[in-house]
Amino acid sequence: MTKPEGSEGAVPVITIDGPTASGKGTIASRVAQQLGWATLDSGALYRLTALAVLQDGVNAEDVESVARVARELDVSFRGDAVYLRKEDVSLRIRQEDIGNLASRVAVYPQVREALLERQRAFRRSPGLVADGRDMGTVVFPDAPLKIFLVATVEARAERRYKQLKEKGFSVNLTDLLDDMRARDIRDASRASAPLVAAPDAITIDSSGLSIDQTVQAVLDHWSSRRG
Ligand code: CDP
Repeated sequence: MTKPEGSEGAVPVITIDGPTASGKGTIASRVAQQLGWATLDSGALYRLTALAVLQDGVNAEDVESVARVARELDVSFRGDAVYLRKEDVSLRIRQEDIGNLASRVAVYPQVREALLERQRAFRRSPGLVADGRDMGTVVFPDAPLKIFLVATVEARAERRYKQLKEKGFSVNLTDLLDDMRARDIRDASRASAPLVAAPDAITIDSSGLSIDQTVQAVLDHWSSRRG
């Protein structure tokens, strides 16, 4: 059972928030692997909402209908695979059209509210590494370690370019940069749960760090927190 927030002995959570393509997902899953903890990819829930909106032909401007889609989302996570209504959509939700729509529907407070408890339910012993935009500020404000992972927009666009290429998608670096800048502005300027570092978060700039170095930096912070 999850203990009430902030209580002594509550299941520990490490939150990793940051802008698009800052490497949150990769770092979160490696850190979780090292600690033997579970992960929450909160962005996947927004992406799944976006995909369901698209599949159902729901008007993305109609806040109430989009929130209903989010509330009724039939999803499951099995290992690295993500299912929507029993269909494996792991690859589909990574495409840029879905990422952009996710960022649009994530602006609605009703959608965020609809996904809140679903996210908190991932908190299970022995611990959770949660990545997103508002993990440390809204979803798990009592997390004992909060990381704010940043990187220059150029470094992030390069990474996303490679990632999408490896998955076999055709991509254009200039378009990616433009999309990324637009997404940064939308994520940071929205009224509900904007992308900001929690006051008690530690900022790590991964522009010049390898994945291993970034993972190690997070683990070092966790060790010193506990020690
Ligand atoms: O991979 P990338 O960082 O671009 O996206 P993601 O983490 O999969 O999230 C997709 C979109 O969902 C983001 O652009 C955010 O607008 C939104 N999101 C959010 O609002 N809050 C979260 N906790 C996670 C994602």
